[in-house]
Amino acid sequence: MLSVFKNAMNYVQNSDETLVGRQIDKDPIVEGLVTDLVDEVTVHNGSLFGVRPPQPHLVEQFKKKMDHLGALRGRPLYHPYIGTGAGNGVYVELEDGSVKLDLINGIGIHIMGHSHPRVMKATVRGALADIVMQGNLQPNNEYWQLSEKLVQIASRKSRLKHAWFATCGTMANESALKLARQKNSPARHIFAMKNAFAGRSTMMAEVTDNPAYKQGLPDYNEVLRIPNYDKKDPQSAEKALKAMKELYAKHEKDVSCFVFEPMLGEGGFVPVPREFYVPMLEFCKQNKIAIWADEVQTFARTGEYFAFETMDLGQYVDIVTIAKTVQLGVTFYTEEYNPKPGLIAGTFSGSTGSMMAGLEILNILAEGYIGPNGRIMEIHRRFIDGLNRLNETTCKGLVIDAGGMGLMIAFTPFDGKKEQVELLIKKMFQNGLIAFSCGKDPVRIRLLVPAIIQDQDIETALQLIEKSILQGLG
Ligand SMILES: Cc1ncc(COP(=O)(O)O)c(C=O)c1O
Repeated sequence: MLSVFKNAMNYVQNSDETLVGRQIDKDPIVEGLVTDLVDEVTVHNGSLFGVRPPQPHLVEQFKKKMDHLGALRGRPLYHPYIGTGAGNGVYVELEDGSVKLDLINGIGIHIMGHSHPRVMKATVRGALADIVMQGNLQPNNEYWQLSEKLVQIASRKSRLKHAWFATCGTMANESALKLARQKNSPARHIFAMKNAFAGRSTMMAEVTDNPAYKQGLPDYNEVLRIPNYDKKDPQSAEKALKAMKELYAKHEKDVSCFVFEPMLGEGGFVPVPREFYVPMLEFCKQNKIAIWADEVQTFARTGEYFAFETMDLGQYVDIVTIAKTVQLGVTFYTEEYNPKPGLIAGTFSGSTGSMMAGLEILNILAEGYIGPNGRIMEIHRRFIDGLNRLNETTCKGLVIDAGGMGLMIAFTPFDGKKEQVELLIKKMFQNGLIAFSCGKDPVRIRLLVPAIIQDQDIETALQLIEKSILQGLG
């Protein structure tokens, strides 16, 4: 018997509650229906438990679809990828009938993998709300719940006190910059790291240090670049601080903030020791320059919720931005950076489904994923050990510098030569493993591993990496 009917028999309407709150949240019939619905979908998705090649009878039709989509977009997609909407953990089904092991997850969106039953249930419940998108004028209960949960997590080891939603990381970053500039008005310059990535709005393209992402755009000359940590150079912290001081001397009282990714994402997944940042953060504090950690990619991936916790930098941060994992963008700020009304807002703050899914993802993460002995760090150790093993055995010298933080894992094949690394990514895709690149020189293979990956799937991923590298040699 469907649980909905069982539940219906137990359902006793409480007339005192009928006037307060969304009744379906307390309605076991609805609860049973949602459970049955997601259970049924999960049964279907259960057939996706391993890599599968494209199905010959779908290949031609798929290619036509890809070509058409490419024409609509004005350029093809990076990977020949159109999902069917079915997945199961690390596995995802494509329209050509193939099933891939997904280790990039929409560049970090699907931290719980594909079709996670609890995330699906939360999203379905969100879809049952009176509206699709919530806004800052008329938010619903989930807006409050998610704000409360996020501020509670963010404030444990920092002075962050407020959270403001945005629809993506770029917009969260736009809000962050405005808060910093308003508080420190009229200072306009920005300290940002070399090889930074901050998004693709006009201003975030300026903060991003990649000429390919702003071809033909005017240069606003508002960003002052700080050199990165270089593990081969014992002086690199001193050099970075010196550069910051020299730039400041030229632009005294005209620097609004220092934005840094605790570990560069697009820039190459090279972990940075705390000691590299601290002198610069102290300098910014002394000079009342806002300290803004862009955690759009690092949030929930480095072992703790925030990389500023993993790196013990919480005492310094004034502003922090996140997105991806929580299914919308969020700008956190301290009391002193709370902006004047009107500076940040916007029609959309996120869909009800994404707010509920974000909340549920945070709930799941609290169940054994976080902390030095949590599952995230266990996955990291297992994956890095496996990559190092390949580098020492069958793929000698071709899986170098395996590292990163937590679920952010990268390695350098073929000396980081762009063309060869790109070919390897294509080869991996054909073999059933979805990855991406990061870094410029060297170009590295980037993996954003979902937190739900099982040990046997890590082994499968390592085998696919090995197979693809060996084919690349042949
Ligand atoms: C560090 C960092 N900041 C900002 C962004 C932009 O976020 P979004 O693409 O959600 O606008 C990204 C996206 O990858 C990122 O990695």
